[in-house]
Amino acid sequence: MAKILIVYFSRTGCTEKMAQYIAEGIRFTGSEAEIKKVSTIKDADALAGYDGYLFGCPTYHRDMTQNFKTFLFLAEKAGLEGKAAGAFGSYTHSGDAPKILADTMEYVLKMKLVPLGSFNALEGKLKNEDPEILKACQQYGKAVAELAG
Ligand SMILES: Cc1cc2nc3c(=O)[nH]c(=O)nc-3n(C[C@H](O)[C@H](O)[C@H](O)COP(=O)(O)O)c2cc1C
Repeated sequence: MAKILIVYFSRTGCTEKMAQYIAEGIRFTGSEAEIKKVSTIKDADALAGYDGYLFGCPTYHRDMTQNFKTFLFLAEKAGLEGKAAGAFGSYTHSGDAPKILADTMEYVLKMKLVPLGSFNALEGKLKNEDPEILKACQQYGKAVAELAG
């Protein structure tokens, strides 16, 4: 049974909702999912002991938020090479943060990334509790858990 850590930031709750849906998908596979806010991760040791990782950050000003950039410098010291990985984050139009996150996890941290799902017009779908987005998030979590398993 794989143990998966989800670390996220959310200003208005949308990325937090995604984290919860993703955790459901992980748990459907029989794997364990732990969700932590990025502000609670104080050192690289806090990232030790998991088989897979999902990082979630919303897009503001076509970028990741500063706290998540700082977190990635900490993650660099955690030895996550070869671990199963996924990236996500709520947005309204350009959705840059999940793409930047995915790139960093794959090319800098050298993790095994599950390619980003199709998360178009995400915020609207999240706010409407669209079953399509619930399913997409659950499936993404499931895919990371299976890769980690
Ligand atoms: C000031 C501001 C700037 C934003 N910039 C972008 C942007 O560049 N691209 C985008 O796709 N969404 C942008 N958004 C929309 C947010 O990403 C969206 O509201 C998202 O759902 C917030 O997620 P959260 O609730 O997890 O904080 C912006 C929102 C605000 C308030």
